[in-house]
Amino acid sequence: MTSPPTLSDRFAAYADAVLLEGSPAWASAARGVAADAEVLALVERAEEARRQPVLVLAVARWLGAPPGPWPELRRWLLDHPDRFLDELGRRLTQTNDVRRTSPVSLALARVEGPVALLEVGASAGLGLLPDRYGHRADDVRWGAPDSPVQLEVVVHGDLGEVRLPEVVWRAGLDLDPLDVRSAEDVGWLEALLPPGATGRAALLGQAVSVAADAPPRVERGDALDDLVRLAAEAPRDATLVVVSTGTLVYLPGRRRQEFVDLVRGLGARWISYERRGLLHDVPVVLPDGVPQDESFAVLALDGRALAVGDAHGTRLWTTG
Ligand SMILES: C[S@@+](CC[C@H](N)C(=O)[O-])C[C@H]1O[C@@H](n2cnc3c(N)ncnc32)[C@H](O)[C@@H]1O
Repeated sequence: MTSPPTLSDRFAAYADAVLLEGSPAWASAARGVAADAEVLALVERAEEARRQPVLVLAVARWLGAPPGPWPELRRWLLDHPDRFLDELGRRLTQTNDVRRTSPVSLALARVEGPVALLEVGASAGLGLLPDRYGHRADDVRWGAPDSPVQLEVVVHGDLGEVRLPEVVWRAGLDLDPLDVRSAEDVGWLEALLPPGATGRAALLGQAVSVAADAPPRVERGDALDDLVRLAAEAPRDATLVVVSTGTLVYLPGRRRQEFVDLVRGLGARWISYERRGLLHDVPVVLPDGVPQDESFAVLALDGRALAVGDAHGTRLWTTG
């Protein structure tokens, strides 16, 4: 039996991933943490859910720690343990990755409209606006062609025509909702993005500008405890579609299954873009030749896999 990855392994793996993404600064910081027993011990003082590399690095940056070189960042962390741990203890990984709306909208196109969208773990609600962004996969286009947000997704497999249903209601739930009109909240979203030539900060800025015109409603609440209450507000003549992307991993294992059962009990459609292997109810057979990092997540509608893809939703392999 293989043992679970250590905290050091997780930082080392994150260093490799974030370097590929175009952020040598965070790659070097993550490598520094991975090899430093004192800093690892500091991070281990935080609860398990807060020890994620992206959250650790974002909190250090948010507090004004030097971005590098590693010895300076290390010194800062060891000199400010209480400030760092306090902030880490009240923050959640809230990266709002607008690129995931491309796979989500491909699943949404299979739902008969009008639809009411309800996202759990919505962060700032940028994922509630798939129809306000333009999407393109090779020469297939859907969504809003004139939007400042234009997203591209590489799809291996057949797409056919993509037509989005009308979205007549949308709302999100989050343990700590962020407001696209708050400079502080947008600053936190920016702090969560790896610094460097990744293009993600510019995309976030464009999505925030689209959302700020008509901010999506995101309520403070739990993905399970508050779902039924919020769902009851959706118009009866619309198809309720519950969306979860990159969120269920933050629920304890038992709560994940309860969430799936709850959504089924609501009679709602359910679109998920979650880590492969996370949910018993979303089995998937990998297409031949799919690379490991392009099968990180599974796009599913009502638990039936439609595709696998990378963590950000930019490369998909349809599963039939
Ligand atoms: C990694 S973010 C993903 C945000 C968004 N779904 C996306 O894909 O861009 C996860 C979000 O889930 C929220 N969250 C975590 N646990 C939650 C829970 N039990 N109920 C509601 N929201 C939760 C966090 O606050 C965070 O904003």
